[in-house]
Order: sequence, then structure tokens, then C-alpha cells
Amino acid sequence: MPVIAVVGAQWGDEGKGKVVDLLAQEASLVVRFSGGDNAGHTVVNPYGEFGLHLVPSGIFSPHTVCIIGNGVVINPSVLIDEMNQLDQRGVATTRLFISDRANLIMPYHILLDGLEEKSRGGKAIGTTRKGIGPAFADKVARLGIRAGDLLDREMLLERLRSVLDYKNTILTRVYGVNPLSLDEVYSQYCQYGERLGPHMRETVVMLEEALKQGKRVLREGAQGALLDPDFGTYPYTTSSSPLAGGGCLGAGLGPTRINRVVGVFKSYCTRVGSGPMPTELKDETGDLIRGRAHEYGTTTGRPRRCGWFDAVAARLSAQINGFTGAAVTRLDILDDFSRLKICIGYKLDGRTIDYFPGNVAEVERCQPVYEELDGWQTPTSNIRQYEQLPLEARQYINRLEEIISCPVNIICVGPSREQTIRKTPIF
Ligand code: IMP
Repeated sequence: MPVIAVVGAQWGDEGKGKVVDLLAQEASLVVRFSGGDNAGHTVVNPYGEFGLHLVPSGIFSPHTVCIIGNGVVINPSVLIDEMNQLDQRGVATTRLFISDRANLIMPYHILLDGLEEKSRGGKAIGTTRKGIGPAFADKVARLGIRAGDLLDREMLLERLRSVLDYKNTILTRVYGVNPLSLDEVYSQYCQYGERLGPHMRETVVMLEEALKQGKRVLREGAQGALLDPDFGTYPYTTSSSPLAGGGCLGAGLGPTRINRVVGVFKSYCTRVGSGPMPTELKDETGDLIRGRAHEYGTTTGRPRRCGWFDAVAARLSAQINGFTGAAVTRLDILDDFSRLKICIGYKLDGRTIDYFPGNVAEVERCQPVYEELDGWQTPTSNIRQYEQLPLEARQYINRLEEIISCPVNIICVGPSREQTIRKTPIF
């Protein structure tokens, strides 16, 4: 029962979509386990280019069943749009299933995300404003409306009435904005229920059956380890755990069922939104990386902050995820540099440290300590065999393997499926 977890190892946007699309060719089932439509998983394959927010990136593999797990918060309107677009472009969504336990994003979550961000002023988190934080807060506060609730209209109305009453009090009395209409929200969500009902399942049973039959299962994470609410740069984090462990809860698969954990790293670092990023380059090198890699958010279009590979952050990520292997994406973006830097420690208040502090104010004060490596200054995007990579590129990859203490399984040298080098087998 081979289960592979594919998780973001940095601040999100590492290229999980491409890696999952690739590995899904050999998998029977792909389950997304965290986040919501704050994610934007880019996939380029024979069907075209896609920016998926909710549908698992395995949807392009014709025999693979895709599940949106219980740990995802679903905006039904976004999901329906995404499904319609996929269907229109010839990608069947009949193999897509939704956990009836997944919480839904409601209109008040989106409103409150924006209002809360505004009220934070200069301390805004820089959220995607998709309602993610408020929806996860409601889940834990037991105020959530779940996908399965859409199937029982009477119960939905009763639940919505009491929750909306409370939310409208906050909207009107705290933020001074107009209340939401129960009738409008109810009828809208009843329509969503009609469209999504046929896709809802008890997905734990589906997973169990696939595992019993020895089928290969992929767990697709969203965001990245350094946005984890416990281990990331709190409070500048997202609201669900993007870690391999979070994936056990978010998919409904116990930790002993996971055979491999593949961490996806970009060959450099990016971050979008607020919060510290010790290797951020606020100079022309940062602009060069952004321009060359077109580092703009798939979900919000915001420019991503770019910087050198951060080995301190990567080590934390490897420890808390327990990687058995890694995928290094966008190696080709470094092709033209004569020298490359890797941050191997931080200077903090006059000391040199080799760990990622838990306190965000300390991370803000960390200055990167770099080691330098030679660049390869040769195009790599047409290379398919590891041995054919220039020596300096192999040295760079070897250095990353030392840092994260696991083998690199996959190297990506471009966005399309075939621009991939399989360095070592995952199993
Ligand atoms: P939220 O998840 O929308 O609440 O945003 C919280 C933080 O996580 C912000 O800094 C976002 O920019 C960041 N974030 C959320 N989702 C992603 C993602 O998929 N990629 C990169 N950053 C993300």
C-alpha cells in the first residue's frame, strides 16, 4: 500500500502542482489535504496550462481518482467554476470526489478576511482574502458548515440561521457593514449542493479500499512548511497545516500508512504576503529572479518576494516533515548566474545560529550567512538525464541533499511534464 505525501517545503509555490501531475501518472488516487482556494497549483501538460485552486493536480491522469479531503476548506463557487472549466477543456471531472466532512467557505468568511486584514493596518498578514483563516477558525469553534450539510436542506437552514445570526452581529456591530441575507445565502448554497452532491462521498472508505487493493495513493499538500501555523513565522502563516503530519488528519490516513514523504523545494526561495524571509533580495538579483521565473502569485497576481536558497529554513522543514526524498524545481532559473549563494546560518544579535527561531521578531532580525558556489551558466531546460547536467549544477544539487539529509528524487528544469529529470527512484 504505497502512499506518497507530496508537500511544500518552503513558503508555498514550490511547484507541487507539477510534481503531483507527474507522479499521478503512476497513481490510482490523489487526495488534497489542506488549505483551500488560497492555493494555486500550476500544471502544464498536453491539455494546456492550468492554475488549479481546489481540484487535485492528479485530475489530468485519465484513470486517477481525485479527492478533496476533509482538511480542505471549499469555496463551492470556486470549485464549481474550476470543474466547469476543466470539463470545457476536455478534462473529465467525473472522477472527482469531495469529502462530506470538508468545511465550506461561506460569504461571511470572505468578507471577514478582508475586514480583519484592513483592521490589522500595517500588521496585515497579507492573506489571499479568500476567507481561509475565518473558515478554519469556525471549523475549530464548531461553527462551520460542512459539505455534507448541503445534502440536508432542513438541517442546513437551521444551522445557517443560527450561524448567520451571529456573523451578522459581528459584521454590523463590529465592522459597521451590511448584514447578509439568510434567504440569499441559503438558496445559493442549496444550488451548490445540487451541483456538488453527486461528487460527495465518505472518502475514508474510498482510501481504505484503494489501499487494500495495493493501489498507489498520493497526498497533495498546499502551501508550505514555513506557513504552518505552528512551525511557520506565526502569526504570518496560513491556517491549516501544510506538513506531512497535517496531511494525515486532512486526508484521513493514519501516519503508519504513509510510505514516502517528498518535500518540494524551489532551487531558490520565494514568499508572497507579509512576514520575515531572511534571504529575501530587495535588489536587482531579486528582480532578476522574479522576472526570469515570472514569480507572481497564481491566486492573487501579487509579485512574490525572491531570494537565495535558505538551508536553515530547509532543515527545519525536513525535520518537521520527515522527508524521505525531495523534488527540486525551477533549477533552470539559476542557469545564468556565475555565482550562487546558499544561506547556511543566521546572524542574530551578534551570534551565529543554525536553527530557525520560533519567535517571529527574532526571525525578522536574522541576517543570512552565505556560502557561495559556482554557477553553471549553461541552459538546462532541455536536459533529461542527471549525468548530463553541468558539474556545477550537480554540485548544487548534492549540496541541497546534504542540507536536507535526503536524496533528491526529481529535478524540474521547466514547467512542462517532460522537463523533468528523475535522479533517484522514490521507492
Ligand atoms: P491565507 O492562507 O489566505 O490566510 O494567507 C496567509 C498567508 O499565507 C499569506 O502570507 C499568503 O500569501 C500565504 N499563502 C496562502 N496560500 C498560499 C499559497 O498557496 N502559496 C503561497 N503563499 C500562500
